[in-house]
Amino acid sequence: MTIRPADDAGIAEAAALLQQGGIVAFPTETVYGLGADATQDDAVAKIFKLKGRPNFNPLIVHIASSGWLSDLVFPDRRVEILVRSFWPGPLTLVLPRRPDSAISHLVSANLETLAVRQPDHPVAAKLLAAIKRPLAAPSANLSGHVSPTLAAHVAADFGPALDMILEGGPCRTGLESTVLDLTSETARILRPGAIGAEDLTALIGTVEEPASLLAEHEGPVTSPGQLDKHYAPSLPVRLNAAAAISGEALIGFAGTKDAVVDLSPRGDLSEAAANLFAALRRLDEPSQFTGIAVTPIPNTGVGFAINDRLRRAAKGR
Ligand code: TXA
Ligand code: MG
Repeated sequence: MTIRPADDAGIAEAAALLQQGGIVAFPTETVYGLGADATQDDAVAKIFKLKGRPNFNPLIVHIASSGWLSDLVFPDRRVEILVRSFWPGPLTLVLPRRPDSAISHLVSANLETLAVRQPDHPVAAKLLAAIKRPLAAPSANLSGHVSPTLAAHVAADFGPALDMILEGGPCRTGLESTVLDLTSETARILRPGAIGAEDLTALIGTVEEPASLLAEHEGPVTSPGQLDKHYAPSLPVRLNAAAAISGEALIGFAGTKDAVVDLSPRGDLSEAAANLFAALRRLDEPSQFTGIAVTPIPNTGVGFAINDRLRRAAKGR
């Protein structure tokens, strides 16, 4: 399996592979996705098999424009407002699924809802325009691994099992999209991301954040997203560390002393988010370290989503 440059020929070949039911990894602004034509059952089934993902955990459908929405779901006034402000971008909307939508029921794990987003990346946009079909795409990591922010991360997880990986360089945002449930009157964040509750509330009013996202709360699982045991390296991860203890690699922020990796020496949370997953993957080498320690990260803005991913990483696989 080769990592292909995402030039016109690469995109055309990727689109042809997808049309034939193949699986192609492609870059988005958040993380790399493992794409399949969302209307083909067999292709979607391959994604679950490749990732080792439980089939009750639904996939996000990627579209080229908000104009595709009305064939798939029942959008409301809030959708119009959010789409105008945040699409293309790292905001996934969970909406009631149209019974007559062409999307495979495997994608939505037989739920009556569908998660949809328009990615903000030129390669993803060109690929969607070429295939002219919605693409189902989970993060392109093995189930239980840290999400990929480089083509090389995808290759490391899947080796030759993939038909193609389109090269798009490092992902700009570096954390998976915010997942927002709009199936009831009060909007609810199922997974925090770069677009935060404050940004959403300003436009559509109250947005709920489940208690389980706010602290180390170990409550009952209420959404499929929370079943997702992502983000976990194989080494133990220790949070809010003042310093590394013997054998640990220290991940720092804003100039932490003795950090093996500083997520953002200048203290920029967006830069830290973009560097987080690559740092976890790089340091996750048991021969070199016995654990990963992480300095406290401010819990404001995108820091909230960074801390959510770090808590999952610290929980282990
Ligand atoms: O940034 C992203 O969202 C990346 C890129 C590739 O777009 N994709 C991604 O997909 O992170 P994945 O499959 O790793 O995460 C999708 C999340 C899961 O937590 C899943 O449970 C949730 O979205 N989800 C999908 N469909 C849903 C639905 N109908 N209802 C509730 N949650 C849903
Ligand atoms: Mg994932």
